[in-house]
Amino acid sequence: MKSILITGGCGFIGSNFLRSIVSVRKYSHIVNLDCLTYAASFENLRDVENDSNYVHVKGDICDKILVNELFKKYHFNHVVHLAAESHVDRSVSNTTDFLSTNILGTQVLLEAARSVGVEKFIHISTDEVYGSRSTGFFDESDALRPSNFYSASKAAGDQIAHLYSTMYKMPIIVIRSGNCYGEFQYPEKLVPLAITNILLNQQIPLHGNGEHIRSWVHVSDFCRAVSILLESENFDGVYNISGQQLSNLEVVQTICSEMGKSVSDIIRHVNDRPNADHRYAPCGDRILKNHNFKADSDFANTVPSLIKSYVRNEGWWKNIRQSSAFKENYSKQAAGLWY
Ligand code: NAD
Ligand code: TYD
Repeated sequence: MKSILITGGCGFIGSNFLRSIVSVRKYSHIVNLDCLTYAASFENLRDVENDSNYVHVKGDICDKILVNELFKKYHFNHVVHLAAESHVDRSVSNTTDFLSTNILGTQVLLEAARSVGVEKFIHISTDEVYGSRSTGFFDESDALRPSNFYSASKAAGDQIAHLYSTMYKMPIIVIRSGNCYGEFQYPEKLVPLAITNILLNQQIPLHGNGEHIRSWVHVSDFCRAVSILLESENFDGVYNISGQQLSNLEVVQTICSEMGKSVSDIIRHVNDRPNADHRYAPCGDRILKNHNFKADSDFANTVPSLIKSYVRNEGWWKNIRQSSAFKENYSKQAAGLWY
């Protein structure tokens, strides 16, 4: 049996991914390295935490000594690197943490992986590294033109991962996915913010005119793609994951109609982010052709169960929303005050 390191396993995607692999019982050791930033939670890991194969290590991916020790101790066959500072709004005022975790932390992990030799290292990048385009789609060979500190730091991490694969011939996969949504997403991102604001009877701050377009991917599709790539013997380079192209207004409208609210009553237009990206558009043909994977969840069809999960887990998100880490940032975010 193999061992796997997952970084950022207490975050939104990481916790969903951990749950999906623990139940499969393919790994002798599943190590979750997560330093527990404001975005971390153990709430989605309840089914996993007592599993004898699973261990959480509280630590920073930038900590070379710790990271090297973990690689020596567990001889990881696989790495899925998800840990990141992930919220664009926060990257404007908190740039240093983004550069440190998303660039330096990535390099520390790659170097440790190189020194012991891993079978596969999956680096989770994002479609935001391509920047915005008004028509057409980005394929994996397109140039990266990031336009905020989050996407710029992710683009640097992405390119460093690529360099380790070309310079040292390491078995590295880079995944550039569209916006994920699903259970246990920290309620500062659009979808969980909209749902929890409606549950709290609060308005939803909509940036600009709400016409920005994102490629929406359900987290279960994302996790399935990572599992397929972990299993595959034939892999190389970069894979986009593309979802459903929807504007922010369409996303909010779908949620409002499911929750019986009128969108015009519930939204409040706020200033757009500086340098806001109008449209993300990853093309998913490569992973479809090479690995027969397509993110096929339909946003409107998944919204009812998603809302139910936020109702069911009310204690979890209410605690977060009462925390100073949430409130301090949200008071600026909700007012469209970016600097
Ligand atoms: P998240 O913010 O919910 O979780 C990030 C996790 O990483 C947290 O548990 C946090 O404690 C941990 N972390 C942060 N800095 C760390 C450090 N220095 N050392 C150790 N742990 C650290 O993020 P997410 O939405 O789950 O995103 C996961 C990954 O997927 C990120 O790399 C992100 O860029 C990428 N991604 C996310 C989306 C999306 O829509 N959520 C889309 C495409 C790509
Ligand atoms: P977000 O969920 O923060 O993801 P990202 O910026 O990584 O795409 O935002 C998605 C889109 O929704 C983006 O165009 C900004 C917009 N948005 C709002 O209009 N209001 C909000 O309160 C938030 C959080 C985002």
